[in-house]
Amino acid sequence: MAKFKGNPAKMQQGEMAGTAKRLIKSLFHYYKWELIVVMIALLFSAVGSTAGSVFIGSITDECITPAVQRIAQGMAVSESLDLMWPTLIKYLIAMVTIYAICIFATFAYTRIMANVTQGYLKNIRGEMFSHMESLPIKYFDTHARGDVMSYYTNDVDAIRQLLSQSIPQIITSVITLTAFIVIMLYYSIWLTLVIFVGVIAMFALTGSVSGKSAKYFVKQQKSIAKTEGIVEEMMNGQRVIKVFCHEQKAYEKFKEANDELCDDGTKANTYANILMPMMGNLGWIIYVIVACVGAVLVMSGANNVSLQGYGEPLTVGIIISFLIISRLFTMNVSQTAQQVNSIIMGISGAYRIFKLIDEESEYDEGYVTLVNAKYDENNNIVESEERTGMWAWKHPHQADGTITYHKLTGKIDLFDVDFGYNEEKIVLHDVTINAKPGQKIAFVGATGAGKTTITNLINRFYDIADGKIRYDDININKIKKPDLRRSLGIVLQDTNLFTGTVKDNIRYGKLDATDEEIIEAAKIANAHDFITRLPQGYDTVLTADGANLSQGQRQLISIARAAVADAPVMILDEATSSIDTRTEALVQKGTDALMKGRTVFVIAHRLSTVQNADVIIVLDQGRIIESGTHKELIEKKGKYYQLYTGAFELE
Ligand SMILES: Nc1ncnc2c1ncn2[C@@H]1O[C@H](COP(=O)(O)OP(=O)(O)OP(=O)(O)O)[C@@H](O)[C@H]1O
Ligand SMILES: [Mg+2]
Repeated sequence: MAKFKGNPAKMQQGEMAGTAKRLIKSLFHYYKWELIVVMIALLFSAVGSTAGSVFIGSITDECITPAVQRIAQGMAVSESLDLMWPTLIKYLIAMVTIYAICIFATFAYTRIMANVTQGYLKNIRGEMFSHMESLPIKYFDTHARGDVMSYYTNDVDAIRQLLSQSIPQIITSVITLTAFIVIMLYYSIWLTLVIFVGVIAMFALTGSVSGKSAKYFVKQQKSIAKTEGIVEEMMNGQRVIKVFCHEQKAYEKFKEANDELCDDGTKANTYANILMPMMGNLGWIIYVIVACVGAVLVMSGANNVSLQGYGEPLTVGIIISFLIISRLFTMNVSQTAQQVNSIIMGISGAYRIFKLIDEESEYDEGYVTLVNAKYDENNNIVESEERTGMWAWKHPHQADGTITYHKLTGKIDLFDVDFGYNEEKIVLHDVTINAKPGQKIAFVGATGAGKTTITNLINRFYDIADGKIRYDDININKIKKPDLRRSLGIVLQDTNLFTGTVKDNIRYGKLDATDEEIIEAAKIANAHDFITRLPQGYDTVLTADGANLSQGQRQLISIARAAVADAPVMILDEATSSIDTRTEALVQKGTDALMKGRTVFVIAHRLSTVQNADVIIVLDQGRIIESGTHKELIEKKGKYYQLYTGAFELE
């Protein structure tokens, strides 16, 4: 499918057409039969609504006019009416039948269309969400949250409007207008021409007004996204705003966006709102002209020209039909014109949504997977169904179709790794690290030195620019990303908790963990005590990122979450930075037990927590400047020594 580039606000006509085509195609993909039924129902409903105008003309010419003429010729009124009744009743029954079908068809298509619209929106939201989860971290680094949120709200709503109202309206109008044109030409070519001239004027008007308003409607959608983004940011940063007394400033920023939204909305709606009355008036003008031209034609007794040929003079009945048709015709045209904005908004919403869906997923070229393993009687590693505590890399060989198993030991090597989040700035230079199985590797260094970045590369949040990373001597690019990440128990620098109970949040680390395992993990993380003191213990519901907990408590829960995952390699990024020193010592005792036999990467600002590491790596501006044990580094009297003694002086 075609991919779109550029700014959605400046969509080209080709892109509009492409998006519309794609939208219709995907709609038919999901709901082919429903849409066919809807089209048929729309056809009935539209044709039904044209029938009335024809009946009025026929009743006038075949019932009322002859009856009046008979009375004028001296027939008794009751006798003349008696002669009229059979024809009239025939027409009335036909009319009632047609209208009944029309009502039923309208009911049917609105019902089906409601299902189609809601179902389609559900699918598209689902597709967006699941695709969003497959996107690389980079996407979230480079897109404002408010924008992405508005895809799910405004843009989806614009599509709803398009599907539930605009498209049925347009289809009905096309059918009705075509039917009217045929009927009109059948009755009188001259009067049809009069209506045509009027409608051309209406189209010209719509084009000029809608062109202006559509631009502002599209801008309005963007402004809504921006306003929502600001509200979201304010909610997240409420504490910072209060601390710096920036309420007024925050309000001003919001006001600016709010004013812009108001401005765009006003302009869009001003143009859109003048369209309807202008159309209405033009419609009445056409009505009057048809009446005048019709009257002149009837009175002059000139022969009529129609699809039936050059024939009988025009009748009053035909003029009445024409007047009704001209009203319905112009009303239909103006209703369609009203949809222009919704159509443009719907399509530009779809454009943004498709753009997200087209966004390239995180690429996973890996084929080596992680499995539970055990030794068989011949001491060979074999795959095991249940958790054995032993893991192996399952390595399929394409050449001969064999599979080999390779025990996971937790050896991680980085060779001359260079990396930058973007091309302009390299963040890591020539980083070489050799973590042997079971070693505790600590990273220390100033803020921004690149500690977190190294761990982001090990779990492949980002891919390296140059160099190699090997995990148990396997190039990590060959390992499937979910398997790689499953093998790493990670406590991220930013703790993130989800809405749910404490238990659910810990269980996030291992979805099938039993309650006992959860409590065990909480004990390791030293979180058990405070959790049991919470009002509902493990069943206490955490709200909005754990707002009802202290920062340190949140960290303890995220440590417990990593502990329950029981992964062979651990990465702890500043896991204990917000915990008091006494609790930290306790947590450390727990995590030491957890770390036993595992390779662990620890990042800590407090050097006291890393003293017992097997290797301490000192980073400075993305380069490793020293490495060794605590003792070695102290003896070296280099940067670490300075940091260490400096830190102690500070304390
Ligand atoms: N998502 C990102 N996009 C662009 N640059 C980034 C991104 N994340 C980090 N950086 C840059 O990379 C460099 C290293 O950041 P990193 O997060 O690795 O530092 P750190 O050593 O973990 O610092 P801290 O101790 O403060 O956590 C910094 O200069 C930062 O500006
Ligand atoms: Mg960091």
